[in-house]
Amino acid sequence: MQQWVHENPGILHIGTLEARNEFTPFAPDQDPFEAKEGSRLRISLNGLWDFSPFDAPEEAPDAWWNAEPVRKMPVPGNWEMNGYGKPVYVNIRYPIPYDPPYVPHKNPTGVYRRTFSAHPEPGMRWLLNFEGVDSCFYVCVNGCFLGYSQGTHNTSEFDATPFIKEGANELAVMVLKWCDGTYLEDQDKWRMSGIIRDVFFLLREEKQIRRYQVSQEVRENDCSVQVDWQAEAPVSLELLDPDGNLVERADRQYERYVFKVDHPRLWTAESPLLYSLILKTEKEIIGERVGIRRIEIREGVFCVNGQSVKLRGVNRHESNPVTGACVSREDMLQDLYLMKRYNINAIRTSHYPPAPLFLRLCDELGFYVIDEADVESHGSVEASLTTDHDFDYSGIALLANRPDYAEPILDRIRCMVERDINRPCVIFWSMGNESGYSKAFENALRWVGQRDPSRLRHYQSIHMLKDYPEPDTGSDVLDMISTMYPAPEHIDEFLKKTDETRPYFMCEYAHAMGNGPGGAEAYWNKIYADPRLMGGCVWEWCDHGIRAGTEDDGTPVYRYGGDFGEENHDGNFCIDGLVFPDRTPHRGLQEICQIYRPVRAELKDGVFVLRNMLSFTAAEDLLTCRYEIEKEGVRVGEGRVGLHLPPLQTQEVCLPENGNGQFVRFVFEARNDTEWRKRGEPVCFEQIQLSPLHSQEKAHRAEPGRKLSAKETSSGFLVSGETFEYLISRETGLPERMTVNGQQVLTAPVKWNLWRAPTDNDSPWKWKWERFHLADLVPRVYEITSDQDESGALIRVKSSLGWQSHFPMIRLDYQLKIFENGELKLIADAEVAEERPPLPRFGLYFQLPEEMDRADYLGYGPYESYPDKHEAAWWGAFSEKADEYRERHIRPQESGAHTGCTRLFVHGEETGMEVSADQPFAFRLTHYSQRAETAAAHRDELRPEKDTFLCLDWAQAGIGSASCGPGPAEEYLLTQKKIRCGFLLKPVRIC
Ligand code: GAL
Ligand code: MG
Repeated sequence: MQQWVHENPGILHIGTLEARNEFTPFAPDQDPFEAKEGSRLRISLNGLWDFSPFDAPEEAPDAWWNAEPVRKMPVPGNWEMNGYGKPVYVNIRYPIPYDPPYVPHKNPTGVYRRTFSAHPEPGMRWLLNFEGVDSCFYVCVNGCFLGYSQGTHNTSEFDATPFIKEGANELAVMVLKWCDGTYLEDQDKWRMSGIIRDVFFLLREEKQIRRYQVSQEVRENDCSVQVDWQAEAPVSLELLDPDGNLVERADRQYERYVFKVDHPRLWTAESPLLYSLILKTEKEIIGERVGIRRIEIREGVFCVNGQSVKLRGVNRHESNPVTGACVSREDMLQDLYLMKRYNINAIRTSHYPPAPLFLRLCDELGFYVIDEADVESHGSVEASLTTDHDFDYSGIALLANRPDYAEPILDRIRCMVERDINRPCVIFWSMGNESGYSKAFENALRWVGQRDPSRLRHYQSIHMLKDYPEPDTGSDVLDMISTMYPAPEHIDEFLKKTDETRPYFMCEYAHAMGNGPGGAEAYWNKIYADPRLMGGCVWEWCDHGIRAGTEDDGTPVYRYGGDFGEENHDGNFCIDGLVFPDRTPHRGLQEICQIYRPVRAELKDGVFVLRNMLSFTAAEDLLTCRYEIEKEGVRVGEGRVGLHLPPLQTQEVCLPENGNGQFVRFVFEARNDTEWRKRGEPVCFEQIQLSPLHSQEKAHRAEPGRKLSAKETSSGFLVSGETFEYLISRETGLPERMTVNGQQVLTAPVKWNLWRAPTDNDSPWKWKWERFHLADLVPRVYEITSDQDESGALIRVKSSLGWQSHFPMIRLDYQLKIFENGELKLIADAEVAEERPPLPRFGLYFQLPEEMDRADYLGYGPYESYPDKHEAAWWGAFSEKADEYRERHIRPQESGAHTGCTRLFVHGEETGMEVSADQPFAFRLTHYSQRAETAAAHRDELRPEKDTFLCLDWAQAGIGSASCGPGPAEEYLLTQKKIRCGFLLKPVRIC
């Protein structure tokens, strides 16, 4: 009978070897820097295993290692993605009752079995490695119990030697969905199970190098590289420089060797130079990459190699829409190349150590990594809520304070530090996420400080339980102040603290969910202005949608929380990344790419000043620069700028022609081909406005010889000229029909529009907008009169928009002037009722014929732009087809607008409408009605309609990041009570 230990936090592992640094030994005649799969001393056990599912471990036969196979299961693989059980997405709440260390009796269990053949040799150890199993597992070899382990994202290594026999052998692993460790794995992600990372044997000589550590002391002109190891045999070492030249060789050493390196070539994320260390024993050779660098805080400033560095980061989960939590080398490279391409230099491995290979790739490609321990017990907050404690966060440290969970917390932190101790990319150790503070964390932080003083210690969740004494979270345990989702003005509070000697980091900011994030540039204006601000990591890198087929046009269909019949789920909160699940970039990524630009420019006292934001690289080594000067969207000058821009320095630039331009745009392009960017591709730009935008409204002249007639009918006012006929509805006070040369321009009456299909970041207001039914406001015209003079007809309207049960939402007082040439000028005053939420937008909604689906405009494009989300867009003349820049968000929502416009021509082949305004305006052209876009829960439910919809806005609210962070800055919320706007419309017949 199996001795169960998975509900006993006093037993975390049975039979595992002490955690060691991750490496792969090779046979002495092999190249130890080959991919690990090539090692003759490594036997991969990945592949299809036999699988027998049970509802609980107790329901498996007593001799579970002999369980009858029912089907096959891929290793690595999540069984919920392979037909056993369903994935469940929850954020904070535990998916099981909070009852540590117990877990439900119904505990999905999988017995994995496979055979392997062995030829044991004397003196050879068979070390069985699991790089990740969710959530815990028991292992048997040839029916003998080998051990048990937990900690999903940590490596477990067992010595199977005594059980291995010549010829065929059997390996059986029982994996449980829940265990006492589940309470420490409450990360915001899909809850899935199985053997999720590589499984392999290492065949190692008895007198092996058990572990080693490479540490360095970097001085002004030289450096010592110290290697410490544990081995029962002498070790020969070699150190090669980044070009492969031998630095030094040392034969038959014991325990420690110190290399002296003159003028070391230092590792940074910008210059990921790696030395190669070779450790050799009689039967093994190990290759290790060494990055020589120094991480420190100097007078409150975060520095790498003595130079201040800003962390332009993202949070990354391991996630794939098809394979779940199992990610391949290709997946990792895809992420990393994209991050490089989009100017990201830092990654927080939220919220667990990544697969070991990932860190090695980060070393090579150059990223600063915040390695985070597999610890999160966020659900404690929910668990401690009673009806009297709604929204009370003070239970966060409930689990962290349990004495029986102190060792499990430390164990996870220790496993991470030991595994990744030699990775140059790792700059901080993070204790985990959202688990509150307790003695257990304090002790763990102290342990880390002693074990590895060369890196910084990070932990954000330093809240204690209510009524607990203030914790000691001073600089002796934490090396930085870390926050999540501060509003930019909260940072000022930190800056006022002159006695705080530590730097400030945002481990999460700019919640990228759906249409977002907005307002992220505001953070960076502050970060660059103060050396104590280290930067931050956007939440988060990728959407965690699960792929469920494709649409007819090949677009992937994605599902999120609640789509698998879960009772307890958090909906689309897992769709909150900068890239879609298949890594197609969201517009938000373009925005971040531009905010993380390596060069910035500004106009200072008539001179352009370019500033290199990189800490180690001259801009000219990476980039070339050209400029364009435009006036009203027309190029009036262009040229190239020779860059002489050392790291963190500035360069002054004078342009000959800038006097007559309205905007200058410096465009920085890649100088060289890289794996992530082709030579010549744009990396970033800076647009600087030189003179104000002018409203494009033309003077209206009465054109002689033209005739205008205005007739009052029962339905409204019919105004017609030589080429046009407009019916202004008595019921709405707006055009109901507009024809030009007999051609109908509207397919439905024009409406006032105060709605947008709520974005995820609209969550604080959405319910208020719904309450006042902004989507279905009904017009009430109180007064509509007409008048005529020689220049045209004038219709005056007094009306309101309202819905049932409330006072009218908004009162309108406006005039429509129709000129003989068919121009229609609207001038409106509006007054929003008191105590109403800020509006999503204010403007007009047109339904146009299908063919009118092109927009030529002057404004912020070509990408979508909103008042606080237009960094990736620039001001100029653009042309687009409806929806060309609309994002197909997985949960449909507002997208694809353009702000700051001064002119618009919406047209097809036959008909068009010219638009200008008294003020810069916004528009959006789409085949998706707002109604349908609001109602659909998934993008595949949404079909384009035949007609074209035009939103013409006096203004639209900003985007912000309030799905988890702060909303748009005050100035980007439409809180005005009084609105005055003017539009000029002119329908035209093209052919
Ligand atoms: C943070 C948390 C993340 C994620 C995010 C919301 O509080 O650390 O794991 O849940 O909120 O998307
Ligand atoms: Mg959480």
